[in-house]
Amino acid sequence: MWKRAAKYAALAGVLVFAGLQLAPSGERTNPPVIATHTLQASTDVPARVNGILRRSCMDCHSNETRWPWYSHLAPISWEMTSDVVRARKAMNISEWPTDRPARTIGILNAICAGVSSGRMPLPKYGMIHPEARLSEEDRKAICEWTSTEIRRQVGLRKKQLISQAN
Ligand code: HEC
Repeated sequence: MWKRAAKYAALAGVLVFAGLQLAPSGERTNPPVIATHTLQASTDVPARVNGILRRSCMDCHSNETRWPWYSHLAPISWEMTSDVVRARKAMNISEWPTDRPARTIGILNAICAGVSSGRMPLPKYGMIHPEARLSEEDRKAICEWTSTEIRRQVGLRKKQLISQAN
């Protein structure tokens, strides 16, 4: 009796799971990477920082997302596609803004704040990808780089203001 109920429950579970797969899952896109538009093209990124960005950030914050097999399974797929869409909007390493220093400075500030507070990379990502978790030295290297880069961007912004004033 109970055995039969368990069988039906399992069958219902399988059907619900299969049904979920029919719902649209959002797009797993990787728009083309144009070498001249990347962060690395416009900025001097130290090798160590480059390695951290690639290991810990670029699955969400770039056009080079690795979409693993489970990214095709609802409901995980819904969450992953939505995370990547929101992450790319906030900061896309493949489409780094170069014409608006004020915006770039804002992003750089947010990078250091995000890694220092442990908000980035998202903790759930670190659970699946232990190699993406940041050490204290990683965080320090990131924030040293962002403050150097902010100083450079402030210089660019000043030049922009002066040329606008003339
Ligand atoms: C698993 C996906 C994922 C990974 C990995 C990830 N992020 Fe994010 N990140 C997001 C999402 C999603 C948002 C948008 C948050 C929102 O809309 O509230 C975001 C937002 C941001 C922002 C915008 C400001 C803010 O804090 O909301 C910055 C800056 C940022 N991330 C930096 C990083 C850096 C640096 C790394 C690597 C050390 C990283 N992220 C790794 C998903 C990710």
